[in-house]
Amino acid sequence: MTREKPQIRLRQATPDHQSLLEHWDSQPHVIAAAGDDDGWDWEYELPRHPPWRELLIAECDGRPIGFIQIIDPAEEETHYWGDIGPNLRAIDIWIGDLKDIGQGYGTVMMQMALQRCFAPPEVTAVLLDPLVSNTKAHRLYERIGFERIDHRVFDTDDCYVYRLDRPTWERQR
Ligand SMILES: CC(C)(COP(=O)(O)OP(=O)(O)OC[C@H]1O[C@@H](n2cnc3c(N)ncnc32)[C@H](O)[C@@H]1OP(=O)(O)O)[C@@H](O)C(=O)NCCC(=O)NCCS
Repeated sequence: MTREKPQIRLRQATPDHQSLLEHWDSQPHVIAAAGDDDGWDWEYELPRHPPWRELLIAECDGRPIGFIQIIDPAEEETHYWGDIGPNLRAIDIWIGDLKDIGQGYGTVMMQMALQRCFAPPEVTAVLLDPLVSNTKAHRLYERIGFERIDHRVFDTDDCYVYRLDRPTWERQR
């Protein structure tokens, strides 16, 4: 039986999404995937539009279901990724409500995020940094074609680094 592809749309996140994003931040499955970081200050971040990032809300048939951040890791102001080359992108992704997990939404959201990442022709690869414990996310990323290239501690978080190069992405489209 073939599954119907969910109708997902990505919109720019706005200050109107603050309470929803704070609600999602309190969900145990989101907390478990976030590691030890201090969380997002949405009141500060949502009105800001630095050139190195996009903050996106995923909607399914008009209903917000998840969040995506896309950054240029070389330009990102805290230099979270350390010494990293140009022409890359890095993605953060989560689905807000547990009931929306495992419905195929994450796969479609990642594919849409990758379209945006690779739209500028100079972008050579996309990076992800899931916690080592986040096996569900690893499966998704590997299914999409990401390769695990490193095991790295970011601050105190034990993470794998995954990378998808443009040629691999183009072959799979
Ligand atoms: C990681 C995450 C984004 C994946 O999103 P998702 O929507 O659950 O992913 P999908 O539904 O596309 O795929 C997950 C599973 O559902 C299955 N699935 C896909 N479509 C399905 C459908 N229509 N019905 C039932 N199951 C489905 C997939 O086969 C997959 O199975 P697997 O985990 O056994 O490999 C989501 O789980 C999440 O937000 N987790 C919490 C935050 C997080 O971990 N973020 C990533 C940090 S790096």
